[in-house]
Amino acid sequence: MSVRLHAGNGKITVPDIVSRKSRLPSRLPENRITCVTAYDYPTARILDQTGVDILLVGDSLGMVVLGYDSTLPVTVDDMVHHTRAVSRGTRRALLVADMPYGSFHVSLDESVRNAVRLVKEGGAEAVKVEGGERRIELIARLVQAEIPVMGHVGLTPQSLHALGGFHVQGKTAEAARQVERDARAVEAAGAFAVVLESMPRELAARITEKLPIPTIGIGAGPDCDGQVLVFHDLVGYAAEHKPKFVRPYADLSAEISRAVAKYCEDVRSGRFPSDAESYHSATEVRERLSARQPTESR
Ligand code: KIV
Repeated sequence: MSVRLHAGNGKITVPDIVSRKSRLPSRLPENRITCVTAYDYPTARILDQTGVDILLVGDSLGMVVLGYDSTLPVTVDDMVHHTRAVSRGTRRALLVADMPYGSFHVSLDESVRNAVRLVKEGGAEAVKVEGGERRIELIARLVQAEIPVMGHVGLTPQSLHALGGFHVQGKTAEAARQVERDARAVEAAGAFAVVLESMPRELAARITEKLPIPTIGIGAGPDCDGQVLVFHDLVGYAAEHKPKFVRPYADLSAEISRAVAKYCEDVRSGRFPSDAESYHSATEVRERLSARQPTESR
C-alpha cells in the first residue's frame, strides 16, 4: 500500500486546485489543471507517478470498465470498491470520486451518507456531483459535512434520458444562459471546481472568465482552467466510440492485441515458455528422482 504525501509535501489538495485559479489571469501553462479518470490500482499508480493533478474515479466506470451502455447502473458499492483501489495507488494527486446516479436523488440525508461512504470507505478527498441549479442544497449540505465538492454542468451523462442522448449543450443563447446559471449556482453553493462538459468553446471561455473557481473542461475547448479525459479514451484502450474532443495519445488496444496474439502463437508453436523461463530441479534432486526407488512397482 502506498503512503500518502501530506499537504505542503507535494500532495495536491483542494486549496492547491483552487489556488490555480487565483494565479490566473496570467494563465501560466504550469497552472493548468490536469485530470484523468482512474478505476484501479495499477492505473492510479502510473497516473499519480506521472504527475497528473487530479485522479477522478468517474462513473464512466460503468461504460469503460463494467461494460454497461450508460453510467446509470453504477452503484455506490461499485464506486466505493473502485475508489478504494485507486486510493491505494495514489500518493500525490487529489482523489475525487463521482456520486453515481441514484445516490443523491432520494433525500439529502441519504446523499450525505453516500458521500461519506466514498470518503470513509473509498478514501476519496472530494466528490463530484452532476447538475447545476438543482444541486444547490445538496452541494451546500456536503460542504457543511466537510466534503469538498466538484460540480459538473453542461452535458451530464446521468441525465441521458432527460437530455435525449449525449449532445453538445448550450448551443442556443437561452441554453447557454442556463449552463452559465448552472455553473454559477454550483460555485455559489460551495463547489471548489466545476467540470464543463460538451459545450461550445466560447461558452466555456465565458464561464471560465466569470467564475472564481477553476473550470475543468471535457469537450469544452482550450480556455478552461484545466482539462479532463477518460483514461481509456486518452490511451486508446478498448474505447468504442471516439467523440470529437478526444485525442488518443496511444493505441493500447492494438498493442494489447499484438502482444496477446504473439503469446497465443508462441504457446501453440511451443516457443513459450522457453527453458530460460522454466524452473529447474537441483542436480541432486534430479538424480534422486531418476534413481529407481526400491519400493517402486511397475
Ligand atoms: O464519469 C466521468 O468520467 C466524468 C468525466 C468524464 C468528467 O464525469
